[in-house]
Amino acid sequence: MKFSGSAVFSALLVSAVSAGPIHNRTRTSISAARGRAVGAAFFITNEPNGNQLVAADIGADGKLTLRRAISTGGLGAHGITSPNGPDGLFSQGAIKASAAGNIVATVNPGSNTLSVFKINPNDPSNVRQIGEPIGSGGEFPVSLAINNKGNIVCALNGGEVNGVSCFKVDQQKGLLPLSGTNRSLKLKQTTPATGPAGSASDVIFSEDNKRLIASIKGVPPQPGFLAVWDVNTDGSLSQDFKAVAPSKGGLLPFSLTVIPGKNAILATDPAIGFDIFDFATQAAGYGSTSVAAGRSSSVAINGQGATCWSVFSPKSKNFYLTDIKTAIVTEINIDAKLKGTVVKQYPQGKGSGTIDIDIATVGNNE
Ligand SMILES: *[C@@H]1O[C@H](CO)[C@@H](O)[C@H](O)[C@H]1NC(C)=O
Ligand SMILES: *[C@@H]1O[C@H](CO)[C@@H](O)[C@H](O)[C@H]1NC(C)=O
Repeated sequence: MKFSGSAVFSALLVSAVSAGPIHNRTRTSISAARGRAVGAAFFITNEPNGNQLVAADIGADGKLTLRRAISTGGLGAHGITSPNGPDGLFSQGAIKASAAGNIVATVNPGSNTLSVFKINPNDPSNVRQIGEPIGSGGEFPVSLAINNKGNIVCALNGGEVNGVSCFKVDQQKGLLPLSGTNRSLKLKQTTPATGPAGSASDVIFSEDNKRLIASIKGVPPQPGFLAVWDVNTDGSLSQDFKAVAPSKGGLLPFSLTVIPGKNAILATDPAIGFDIFDFATQAAGYGSTSVAAGRSSSVAINGQGATCWSVFSPKSKNFYLTDIKTAIVTEINIDAKLKGTVVKQYPQGKGSGTIDIDIATVGNNE
């Protein structure tokens, strides 16, 4: 197994695990000592000669045991950039797991396809591919969103043919195209994408699943934007997206993380630190390409290099942002008025190349 590609991580928590012992594992003694897996963590290798999904058990003690590497049936790819680095896709969310849908889905950026796997809830790193890889609806897919029910997967394509496309999850056949969801971003891009400036970053559903939101980095001094589509009741998307620019100081919206209960989003921004997009109080201005209204802001993280990835912790209620240049994880609090402040910083060691990030809850810990 080679790990030279960009490793992208997605954690899945399976709360009630009630099956018998796990068979056919390669590290039986370690696993037995730690007890049974309480969840699984997944990442992809993104190798150009064959993308692989790697699954690790999360033990009751929170420790990971690498367990399986499975071909996705597609190819990885590295975006065009200089200097070349560990962030091959300029994105967050290239692999996503859903406990509600019992699935893990991944992009194959080098073959313009997506793959989906079924998770065995009693043995969550034991995944089985469903169906064949399916065309992503564009080129150089870099990020995935899964709805709350776990039955719709949307892809963000960041190549020459760019935009979003959504798919229904069929537990037997795999991903099936969902009509009325193939929507263009009209970016001038290449395949593979050239970046990080001007590249597509992340795609998520809003907390209520009524909007699909993608982030696009600017080409300084021109700021980037969020592209927002309405999700209709049949799952189709509004024909055109609405573009929302970050507040002053924001340039490169990267990862997108929902701020729970607020109709707002935190986006990392390697130009400054992070941007807060308030969708609740900007209803009037919503749809304009002007600076986001309401309580939106762009917040500096002093000494940051390139803050690009983020996750919310249900336990601490804070956000954790990774910086690929400084290899520091920064903890952010966002108060009831959407004011963001730095709580604490956690250096991971120079050169760690801290990229995509996720959180799993194990007992009382995360
Ligand atoms: C594990 O399963 C694989 C595939 O089913 C099989 O080829 C292999 O021999 C098994 N390994 C052990 C240690 O039982
Ligand atoms: C999706 O739209 C792109 C243009 O943005 C087009 O090239 C492609 O063929 C469409 N794919 C499907 C499956 O409709």
